[in-house]
Amino acid sequence: MKLTLRVWRQKNADAPGAMSTYEVDGISQDMSFLEMLDTLNEELILVGDDPVAFDHDCREGICGACSLVINGDAHGPERTTTCQLHMRSFQDGDTIDIEPWRASAFPVVKDLVVDRSAFDRIIQAGGYISAPTGTAPEAHATPVPKPDADFAFEHAECIGCGACVAACPNGSAMLFTSAKINHLNVLPQGAPERETRVLDMVGQMDSEGFGGCTLTGECATACPKGIPLPSISAMNKEWLRATRKVHR
Ligand code: FES
Repeated sequence: MKLTLRVWRQKNADAPGAMSTYEVDGISQDMSFLEMLDTLNEELILVGDDPVAFDHDCREGICGACSLVINGDAHGPERTTTCQLHMRSFQDGDTIDIEPWRASAFPVVKDLVVDRSAFDRIIQAGGYISAPTGTAPEAHATPVPKPDADFAFEHAECIGCGACVAACPNGSAMLFTSAKINHLNVLPQGAPERETRVLDMVGQMDSEGFGGCTLTGECATACPKGIPLPSISAMNKEWLRATRKVHR
């Protein structure tokens, strides 16, 4: 395949950015999207140009590091992570626009790399359980009803990639935050910090400058792990419950 790539280039957070156009040839349909970018970078390095900076780590759809807006869609045309997107989703001769996540809470670091540490700070605010150290407790010591276990597992699938924020017209992080709250709040292990968790994490989310949810649903559509939109309603319910309990 021969492709025209229009790639966002930006030297650093303070420099102005712009789209640059590159031609790449000999791209196999079996390559992943990131392997296609590796090919571009090899060519850029050979001619002495600065390679395109982009985030990646596992390249297996697990870590959530990869983060590209491809032809206007977070993670591209398939419902998967950028690293699991393959070039068979494109046609020979295509022009592909490649941009970083677009959200004021995710400032561009360089080219296609954005700073997603806002997510880390939301997790630090309460996305954990406090447990005494020691050997792992016996699994049956704390029974968890099957529907609760399924609910927790569904939300624990969030890999924190940020596609929800990038896809949302408001730059809202409510799908991410709700996934992280819901998967702990429903479990008995998460009960001791149930109220402080939701209040602190939502407070941190707001202070990071993410927008609010207006239920457009783009977040759930873009999520490569299928976190459902009602996750946000469940978080709002938790937040209301917590505020009432704290005020009582
Ligand atoms: S590189 Fe880890 S999910 Fe894509």
